[in-house]
Amino acid sequence: MNPPETVAVIAGSGLDLRALLDEIDEERAFADVPGLRDARIAGHTGKFIFGRSEGARVIVQSGRLHFYEGLDYETASAPVAALHAFGARTILLTNAAGGLLPNMRPGDLMAVDEIRCWPCARWRERPESLALDFVPEKCDWRGAYHWVHGPCYETRAEIAALRALGSTAVGMSTAPEILRARELGMRVGAISCITNNCCTPQVLTHDHVLRTAAAASARLCEVLRGVVRNGVHHGRPASGATAR
Ligand code: HPA
Repeated sequence: MNPPETVAVIAGSGLDLRALLDEIDEERAFADVPGLRDARIAGHTGKFIFGRSEGARVIVQSGRLHFYEGLDYETASAPVAALHAFGARTILLTNAAGGLLPNMRPGDLMAVDEIRCWPCARWRERPESLALDFVPEKCDWRGAYHWVHGPCYETRAEIAALRALGSTAVGMSTAPEILRARELGMRVGAISCITNNCCTPQVLTHDHVLRTAAAASARLCEVLRGVVRNGVHHGRPASGATAR
């Protein structure tokens, strides 16, 4: 029999995904992994938690690195290369995002079926859109996550532009990691936690995003358990990078 597949799960801002794990074997800080920089943004602890969930080996990456910290593509996506080196071949990325549909509520979960890239990317490829390999079930919404550079939240004009493009949610992470994961041949899926509705004018703070994401973590863990249980790794075979 083949050894059980290792699934990696990246926790977005404020999301606490420990409850996904039935057992924890080891924790390792980014700083203790050669080639990785420590995470410096509030809500991002910067460590890998190795354990088991639903009978599978699961590595939760708590915290991530972002372009808006002034990092280049290689540095920001280096944790994904580490997850691949640890044996993960399937990766589920989670993030905090602003909802672009009027009915989206803080705490809702959106299964990402498309990643779009705002044309500000300073990486070697400039894909406009990145394909995903599977779409998680049991979320409230399904749609396109539009990646923007950040760190400022969007102006009213930018939100209007993103809505006119037909995007469903907006956030500042995930796209560089997906590109790296696909370069490494990993299978990729993503879930956004909607922390605010961009259609309602508000002065958005990182604190608000962190608090809303923390409150949605327990439900997100349940949804992620379903994904791990149903064996995302038996889906479409892994392939190289695709930029549509
Ligand atoms: N915009 C960008 N990133 C975000 C948002 C938002 O409205 N909410 C959470 N992360």
